[in-house]
Amino acid sequence: MQKDLGNYRKSYEKSALTEGTISANPMELFQKWFYEVEASEGVDEPNAMTVSTVGLDGFPKNRVVLLKKYTYEGFIFYTNYESEKGKAIAQNPKVCISFFWPNMERQVIIKGNAEKIAENLSDGYFESRPLGSKLGAIVSDQSSVIPDREFLEEKLKDLEKSYENKEVERPLYWGGFIVKPVSIEFWQGRPNRLHDRIRYSLQPDFDWKIERLAP
Ligand SMILES: Cc1cc2nc3c(=O)[nH]c(=O)nc-3n(C[C@H](O)[C@H](O)[C@H](O)COP(=O)(O)O)c2cc1C
Repeated sequence: MQKDLGNYRKSYEKSALTEGTISANPMELFQKWFYEVEASEGVDEPNAMTVSTVGLDGFPKNRVVLLKKYTYEGFIFYTNYESEKGKAIAQNPKVCISFFWPNMERQVIIKGNAEKIAENLSDGYFESRPLGSKLGAIVSDQSSVIPDREFLEEKLKDLEKSYENKEVERPLYWGGFIVKPVSIEFWQGRPNRLHDRIRYSLQPDFDWKIERLAP
């Protein structure tokens, strides 16, 4: 079986990224891009991003998670701390996150250090989730091997009974990570493969160095 994709080709023409129009702080440029992607048609979940970690087996692994907040400090997502990614981060907090926004022909790649956020912040976010998502976080021993789907469904039914009329508290193994960036690269597709790439790198004095990279 084979399928040749050599003819998949696209010219990128929607926008440009030039030194004259960017901010000194990459989080401000991220915000500008994020707003533009949100306002444009065609991306269902602009906050979906890949997170790559280096696992206990030495392999990098990517998976999609949802960005739930960003600030000047970094990018926050929520997960199970005992999942494969949680264990990987506990051993090596250096991660890479990336966004691909095809409708704007844009990519953002962030290298940074992941840290657990404060417990009260995770509590606050957990509290805001619908009941089903709260119970889902408790039911799923994320990344463990399970016998079949019924196993989860039975577990959920039992939990629903035991939590009837009771507050569901955040389990301690579930919460947020903040990825504090050390480098953020912005990629804007351009015609003739002469794409724009601007990289911000955090300097020891906490200033951001801005460089253009060859496409
Ligand atoms: C669109 C989308 C959004 C997702 N959002 C999250 C999320 O916010 N948190 C999370 O733990 N997993 C999320 N997942 C599931 C992860 O991709 C992954 O399957 C899960 O976190 C287990 O990863 P791990 O075993 O590598 O730790 C999402 C998947 C998709 C496709």
